[in-house]
Amino acid sequence: MIVVFGSTGTVGRLVVNGLVAAGERVRAFTRDPARATFGPGVEVVAGDLQEIGTVRAALAGADGVFVATSPDALAHELTLADALRDSGAGRVVKLSSVAANPPVTDSYGGAHADAEKAFMESGAEWTALRPAGFMSNVMQWKKSIKSQGRVYQPHGGIQRAVIDPEDVAAVAVSCLTTPGHHEKAYQLTGPEALSAPQLTAKVSAVLGRPLQFVEVDPEQARNGMIGAGMPPQLVEGLLASMADPGALRGGTPMPTVQQITGRSPATFDSWLARHVAELRD
Ligand SMILES: NC(=O)c1ccc[n+]([C@@H]2O[C@H](COP(=O)([O-])OP(=O)(O)OC[C@H]3O[C@@H](n4cnc5c(N)ncnc54)[C@H](OP(=O)(O)O)[C@@H]3O)[C@@H](O)[C@H]2O)c1
Repeated sequence: MIVVFGSTGTVGRLVVNGLVAAGERVRAFTRDPARATFGPGVEVVAGDLQEIGTVRAALAGADGVFVATSPDALAHELTLADALRDSGAGRVVKLSSVAANPPVTDSYGGAHADAEKAFMESGAEWTALRPAGFMSNVMQWKKSIKSQGRVYQPHGGIQRAVIDPEDVAAVAVSCLTTPGHHEKAYQLTGPEALSAPQLTAKVSAVLGRPLQFVEVDPEQARNGMIGAGMPPQLVEGLLASMADPGALRGGTPMPTVQQITGRSPATFDSWLARHVAELRD
């Protein structure tokens, strides 16, 4: 039995489906079972990482765990690491970030690194997945594309080898179901490094309409994110992470997805072809 924490998330739900396809028994943990719309064979359990009793109950009989919580919930992953220490679940795969690659330079990467460390010390066999930015982040551009034909972003000139969440999930499933991944921290990327203006041009081409990329001043971005209700410390960490041009922050394509899954990581063009309808609606 593998328990997926963050089962309704971008990557978590793909991991649930991938594990079922691989023939595993899966328990999907969520605060809101109504959102966990999985097929038969998935046991959905209600719980909150902030309530250790619900976490302990979910771990009963588990021999593997996948965890991918939202950036504002990373501290709650420490609760899961505590519960794992007592439960003896065999294996944990944590979705982390390239921001956790040493040297950690911002609070966002620090929160991921702290959670990784807690899992390393939990007694379970551990694997950390450190992906670059997700291709699906371009969905955040939908509103301004629709209303203004524009894409707004700070630090747009920095090229990142963005990754398809499907590839992150495929790596997670391999790490949970095949041996050889204990004590490994994998940096995961897509096959090509692209700037935000280059991504914008590709989106423009598939939508068949001109789009303008607008470089946003980081201070303005900070105010906008805090104004939208994001915790200020998380905003500082995320912006610092976006400003870091280093190769270890996803700037250089890595062979890891191919090495672990045996298939090439998807290109952004391929991701776009599969998601253009969602971008349009
Ligand atoms: N987006 C990127 O470009 C990117 C790149 C690299 C790494 N990452 C990392 O990937 C991770 C996951 O990203 P994602 O996009 O899959 O996340 P997501 O779509 O925002 O999903 C987050 C999940 O966290 C769960 N969650 C949040 N608080 C919880 C709590 N208190 N108790 C139980 N569950 C809780 C939510 O479950 P319920 O609401 O169902 O309870 C949800 O399923 C993050 O840590 C992020 O830092 C993201």
